[in-house]
Amino acid sequence: MAADAQKVTEVIHWDENLFSFRVTRPTTLRFRSGEFVMIGLPDENGKPLLRAYSIAAPSWADELEFYSIKVANGPLTSRLQHIKAGDEIILRPKPVGTLVHDALLPGKRLWLLATGTGFAPFASILRDLETYERFEEVIVMHTCRKTSELAYGAEIIESLNEEPLNEIAQGRVHYYPTTTREESKYMGRITDNISSGKVYADLGIAPIDPASDRAMVCGSYAFNIDVKRLLESLGLREGANSEPREFVVEKAFVGEGL
Ligand SMILES: Cc1cc2nc3c(=O)[nH]c(=O)nc-3n(C[C@H](O)[C@H](O)[C@H](O)COP(=O)(O)OP(=O)(O)OC[C@H]3O[C@@H](n4cnc5c(N)ncnc54)[C@H](O)[C@@H]3O)c2cc1C
Ligand SMILES: NC(=O)c1ccc[n+]([C@@H]2O[C@H](COP(=O)([O-])OP(=O)(O)OC[C@H]3O[C@@H](n4cnc5c(N)ncnc54)[C@H](OP(=O)(O)O)[C@@H]3O)[C@@H](O)[C@H]2O)c1
Repeated sequence: MAADAQKVTEVIHWDENLFSFRVTRPTTLRFRSGEFVMIGLPDENGKPLLRAYSIAAPSWADELEFYSIKVANGPLTSRLQHIKAGDEIILRPKPVGTLVHDALLPGKRLWLLATGTGFAPFASILRDLETYERFEEVIVMHTCRKTSELAYGAEIIESLNEEPLNEIAQGRVHYYPTTTREESKYMGRITDNISSGKVYADLGIAPIDPASDRAMVCGSYAFNIDVKRLLESLGLREGANSEPREFVVEKAFVGEGL
């Protein structure tokens, strides 16, 4: 294999816009659950075309997993969406990111707030035993436009009922998937469902308290800004690797003009 090449072992298409895939893990790669790396394919001139991707697998996994959008004219994903088992991708083994336990102060409940593919780092965090050692409960709010966009997240939540996670995670994860442009059990934006108290009422849980609640946020630029403002209004402060606090934020993608 070429330098930094990893072999694709599995690809799953969740709907017309979303897929997940697994690749071999470089033996030397160490990462913290929630971090991202640069992955990609060679362009038409053979030069690496790389994009940031959250590692969706937990830090203990033998293989790496990624969860990806298919952007119609996207330089990388218009081609990446066609990979199949046996193909190779490029992976730069330099993990970084702020959605990590080290950037949060100790607490009792962890809120994972994501829109769209922003769920990817939380697929890692949710499958990490350390999450359940650090927190008593985990509340997962995932919002998409359509129900089909919630399928990958729902499967990850379902997988928590299997070994080795079932013993530690059972009964401690509250899952609150919502849609905004299609009917489903729970509806509405994450910001609205927290501000109105609907999520607390629906799940039968106490409101966010800065003394004991911690949060990780991953979505579009607009989503991240709105959630940051909301959490700050509730008394939580944004943290970083160098300065752990009550919540951390990372972009799920770089939007046009941002
Ligand atoms: C820190 C970080 C982590 C990321 N992790 C992931 C990940 O785990 N999974 C993933 O699919 N993408 C992720 N991205 C986005 C990713 O880097 C690429 O932008 C994406 O793969 C599309 O690449 P592209 O070359 O096809 O199109 P680009 O030219 O990169 O993007 C074209 C346009 O598509 C839209 N777009 C791009 N990515 C997304 C997305 N994920 N969701 C919704 N709209 C999008 C934006 O409007 C963007 O301007 C991440 C980005 C950052 C900054
Ligand atoms: N998903 C699709 O079917 C679709 C189709 C065509 C094009 N696209 C394009 O693909 C890109 C990404 O689409 P996406 O659906 O992954 O992401 P998105 O537009 O950010 O929407 C994802 C979810 O986040 C919610 N949301 C958006 N901004 C928010 C905010 N500031 N606060 C709280 N919640 C917020 C949306 O609710 P609302 O519905 O209320 O906005 C939606 O449920 C966009 O450029 C979009 O135009 C997506």
